[in-house]
Amino acid sequence: MTLKRMLVGRASLKPLVSCRYGHIISVHRETKGNNANIAFEFDKENLERAKSILAKYPPQYKKAAVMPLLDLGQRQLGYTSISVMNYVAKFLDIPPMRVYEVASFYTMYHRKPVGKYHVQVCTTTPCQLCNSDSVMQTIVDHLGIKPGQTTPDGLFSLEEVECLGACVNAPMMQINDDYFEDLDSGEKVVKILDDLKAGKHPKVGTTKRGTCEPFSGPRVLKSQPLDVKTVTRDDL
Ligand code: FES
Repeated sequence: MTLKRMLVGRASLKPLVSCRYGHIISVHRETKGNNANIAFEFDKENLERAKSILAKYPPQYKKAAVMPLLDLGQRQLGYTSISVMNYVAKFLDIPPMRVYEVASFYTMYHRKPVGKYHVQVCTTTPCQLCNSDSVMQTIVDHLGIKPGQTTPDGLFSLEEVECLGACVNAPMMQINDDYFEDLDSGEKVVKILDDLKAGKHPKVGTTKRGTCEPFSGPRVLKSQPLDVKTVTRDDL
């Protein structure tokens, strides 16, 4: 049985998408807006950040910095263009193919421009068992786009992704750098999207408990959790 038939054949699942896919483009096609002739280099701020990242690695292992440097390039340009990848390869003195391999494997690298709010819905098994299909369907219905598409106003893009490491609070979605978890009702999902559209800041994290403790309450690690903002960059 093909994957498509399996998906469409599940009794509870509306035929949401004819086949499931991420946005990963494994073959680069030169376009007017994304071709190797378009110059790219880190701005002053990111150049300093890149140097401090590189300083963490022994010189012979500087290629290990490929992921944070690609991330810097993507945050600067908005997506990981061929020029960003080539620049990072040159920066690290490694063959461009080594960078292409990384950028085309991880969904965190956008190979084409995305909306202001990039919505990633996890549909891997733990989330799916907690009804991530319904989360996806709610977003598709509310925004009028399918995975891989962006709303005409450029505000939202949608993507289906594999496990984002928050299975215990399934089902969940990631929007830009924030996680929204325990999305057990369509109203919660719609409210988050509407708040973002209205320029508000919806509460990130779980929608029904403190962190990821049992619903009956925490039994371990009862001290005050670390405020993540004290250990990350202000703009993240
Ligand atoms: S399966 Fe969805 S976060 Fe892990």
